Amino acid sequence: MNINRVHLITSAVSPKHYPEHDLPEVLLLGRSNVGKSSFINTIINRKALARTSSQPGKTRTVNFYNVEDTFCFVDMPGYGYAKVSKTERQNFRRMIQDYIENRENLVMVVQLVDFRHKPTEDDLAVNGWLYDNEITPLIVATKMDKVKKTQRPKNLKVLMETMEIEDREDVILFSSETKDGKKEVEDLIEEILKA
Ligand code: GTP
Ligand code: MG
Repeated sequence: MNINRVHLITSAVSPKHYPEHDLPEVLLLGRSNVGKSSFINTIINRKALARTSSQPGKTRTVNFYNVEDTFCFVDMPGYGYAKVSKTERQNFRRMIQDYIENRENLVMVVQLVDFRHKPTEDDLAVNGWLYDNEITPLIVATKMDKVKKTQRPKNLKVLMETMEIEDREDVILFSSETKDGKKEVEDLIEEILKA
């Protein structure tokens, strides 16, 4: 995939602000700070088009990025961040659920989990909603660079067991720092867009 032309279409705070278009959409889901915005920047070859932060809770709106007029990345606020007020967390949760259930442009969900830690209850809950809606997400384990090589097989095993993933090919180990996993993700997106 040769990506050069990307722009932010809109930052939406509610579904009525979502763009009306025919572009297929790839949705990014994951806990706050897991690396969703960094993931987008890595795939689109930009340092900081999607705003990132070491503080969780950076992305507060639903951001739609037009990629080469071919598809759209949808960057959602993270779930499971304790310092965000309960009302706001419920609001994010509703937005995610509503998007998953109703958005006709949706063709692919990428669920990001932090490779350093066992997936959390929130990760499992969101994964459950996806399966309830007959969506099989691509699981991307982020911050792979932060896990020592010798530790990786063990973390992978914990991840697969906790999320009940049977096939090794259904998980991509990814790093926005080293770009590990970038090619695999691009190939999978391309495959889905062609289908
Ligand atoms: P919210 O918008 O708050 O939900 O967070 P997010 O999921 O968009 O995370 P973001 O991309 O802003 O990244 C959070 C922090 O993790 C930033 O400091 C990033 O630099 C860092 N980070 C993201 N991906 C990686 C990675 O693969 N490796 C390392 N070492 N750091 C990463
Ligand atoms: Mg973000």
